[in-house]
Amino acid sequence: MALIMETPVDALIKDEHETPKWKKSTVVFVLGGPGSGKGTQCANLVKHFSYTHFSAGDLLRAEIKSGSQFGAMIQSMIVDGRIVPSEITVKLLCKAMEESGDDKFLIDGFPRNEENRIVFENVAKIEPAFVLFFDCPEDELERRIMSRNQGREDDNIETIKKRFKVFVESTLPIISYYESKGKLRKINAAKPSEEVFEAVKVLFAS
Ligand code: ADP
Ligand code: C5P
Ligand code: MG
Repeated sequence: MALIMETPVDALIKDEHETPKWKKSTVVFVLGGPGSGKGTQCANLVKHFSYTHFSAGDLLRAEIKSGSQFGAMIQSMIVDGRIVPSEITVKLLCKAMEESGDDKFLIDGFPRNEENRIVFENVAKIEPAFVLFFDCPEDELERRIMSRNQGREDDNIETIKKRFKVFVESTLPIISYYESKGKLRKINAAKPSEEVFEAVKVLFAS
């Protein structure tokens, strides 16, 4: 895992004539505030549809655990609710897609900002088929995160406030961008999980 960080980002762009399978993938980005149920609904989706799920946050946490030279930096950014430099996150995502051997992906928690979006476009050269947006008010997000119990260092009230701010300032503009392109599929995520999934399923069944 750590080795990927020593590879220049361009090295991920192989011979144009080769076009590896993952480069021709169908990608659905899954966005929403922290605690909106992205991970929960992606886990439901992979049981019903032939998608492979990658969470950008999970990949970053795995990178920390792997002993990567960037581990300390990634960890301090996560604890502070900040967005990790896109070159790192995009490399992790592209590597995960390539190694999976699959060609239909749910990418959750990404792109979090304009830089994420542009670096992914430039490196992967994949446009999302559509973008799922789990819409949920902050008070409900806060309740969910505070009872998540996964031992995450960023699931505390101080970091949650910072993550909300980053979401509004950096991620909402991305959501508006995809809306303007007609790619946004907005879901009311404030309902019980089963009801949210019923709404999500319709989008994938068509
Ligand atoms: P995200 O990946 O968007 O941060 P998660 O899927 O981890 O969100 O969900 C955050 C917490 O809220 C988890 O404890 C999860 O079990 C719970 N949760 C998810 N969806 C719902 C829902 N629709 N209603 C209530 N709790 C939910
Ligand atoms: O999506 P998740 O809640 O798992 O993300 C946790 C943290 O990981 C974010 O608050 C952020 O610090 C980092 N992250 C990031 N870039 C992404 C996704 C997550 O920096 N695209
Ligand atoms: Mg998650």
